Amino acid sequence: MKKGAQLYEGKAKKVFATDDPQLYIVDYKDDATAFNGVKKGTIHDKGIINNRVSNHLMKMLEKAGVPTHYVEEISDRETVVKKVKIIPLEVIVRNIAAGSLSKRLGLPEGTKMRSTVLEYCYKDDALGDPLVNDYHIFALGAATREELDLIASYALKINQLLTDYLKDLNIELIDFKIEFGKTDDGTVILADEISPDTCRFWDSVTGEKLDKDRFRRDLGNVEGAYQEIMKRLLGE
Ligand code: TMP
Repeated sequence: MKKGAQLYEGKAKKVFATDDPQLYIVDYKDDATAFNGVKKGTIHDKGIINNRVSNHLMKMLEKAGVPTHYVEEISDRETVVKKVKIIPLEVIVRNIAAGSLSKRLGLPEGTKMRSTVLEYCYKDDALGDPLVNDYHIFALGAATREELDLIASYALKINQLLTDYLKDLNIELIDFKIEFGKTDDGTVILADEISPDTCRFWDSVTGEKLDKDRFRRDLGNVEGAYQEIMKRLLGE
């Protein structure tokens, strides 16, 4: 697999072409941002941890029947993935109230809700990724009804699989954000990453936050939390 030209640089990853037109290489950075890029920093070895954690979880999901972009991990920070066009939606699944939902609905963080909440944000940095519903999504042409039905069913299945898997590691899955992409033949698959950058993980015994909220909120021991997640998931 030959790494070709850089196609894109995002806040946390770079994407490269390869000599196979259907494959890309993603390269995870240590850069961390929050609040739509307003807060900036680095988290030592975050790129390595997120690469490995995301691949580990995507392999588990793939085995359980969720199609993902994962192909092969080729280095500490680099992974071969299927080429997709990202569907411009942040798909958020919430089990326990936290973050922006707590603020919006006045529910204290940690409030158990009666049922799982599924939200969509329209991916547009200039607009600050606004919350949208299915009517907005169809009106914008971001996804079709069929695609969104599939995305919703995958998101809820992923939530169940991740929640059960993490429970055994004493990690409570509070909420998470995922993204989907479409391959050239129109197949919808899970893309982007699943990592402490994109999930809220609370220690189920102590309640300690083991995710990017430590960076967003200046809680300290950010690196330690990322390392702890890698240790629990990968045993190292
Ligand atoms: P929120 O409560 O800030 O809306 O975040 C919900 C979930 O989405 C949380 O697990 C963190 C994740 N997230 C991202 O992955 N990227 C983002 O840009 C934001 C705002 C949240």
